[in-house]
Amino acid sequence: MAKKIKLIVGSTRQGRVGGHIANWLVGVAKDAGVELEVIDLKEENLPFFEGPSPAYVPATTPEGQAWSAKIKEAEAVIFLTAEYNRGIPAPLKNAIDHLYNEWADKPAGIVAYGYVDAGVGVISQLKQVLSWIKMRVAEPTVGILLARDHLEDGNFKDVDSALDHAKAPFLAVLEAINE
Ligand SMILES: Cc1cc2nc3c(=O)[nH]c(=O)nc-3n(C[C@H](O)[C@H](O)[C@H](O)COP(=O)(O)O)c2cc1C
Repeated sequence: MAKKIKLIVGSTRQGRVGGHIANWLVGVAKDAGVELEVIDLKEENLPFFEGPSPAYVPATTPEGQAWSAKIKEAEAVIFLTAEYNRGIPAPLKNAIDHLYNEWADKPAGIVAYGYVDAGVGVISQLKQVLSWIKMRVAEPTVGILLARDHLEDGNFKDVDSALDHAKAPFLAVLEAINE
């Protein structure tokens, strides 16, 4: 039976492209017969993490408890992430740090994007972090190379051709995390 897969959209800034990429990924997955549930961190409004270590103490705030419940019910998680200054955007790292045991043993897919070299830096960081919290990081990971002339006013002119290079690796990620 297909796994319950949640796709976390890790950038929250105004005018982000992350939402457009998430929609495209959901469509690609649907065409392949895989349903993804989107968790948009922009809508989660998680506060800055200030609690005790979630490795030992379950979430204490209502927001943290709701976040915990959402991740607990996922059987696999795909992390869609921009690359900010060669690393993980703060909202995504904050969302990860809110929890600990909830992530463990779950398959994790990584889809990163950037202008410089398709998010190589954030992929490396995220792999390290997700391995530490005992997620099973799928290979391959997906690196999307953005180009300025693919976008106009923050939206893709032709999303299918701009993201076509990510399709095959993304389908491979879906297969790997559904095993
Ligand atoms: C704070 C910040 C840092 C960035 N650092 C990088 C970077 O290290 N590497 C890269 O390829 N692009 C970098 N960029 C460009 C982003 O890849 C590009 O703005 C992308 O659209 C960000 O994703 P988002 O629109 O979903 O936030 C950076 C953008 C911002 C806003």
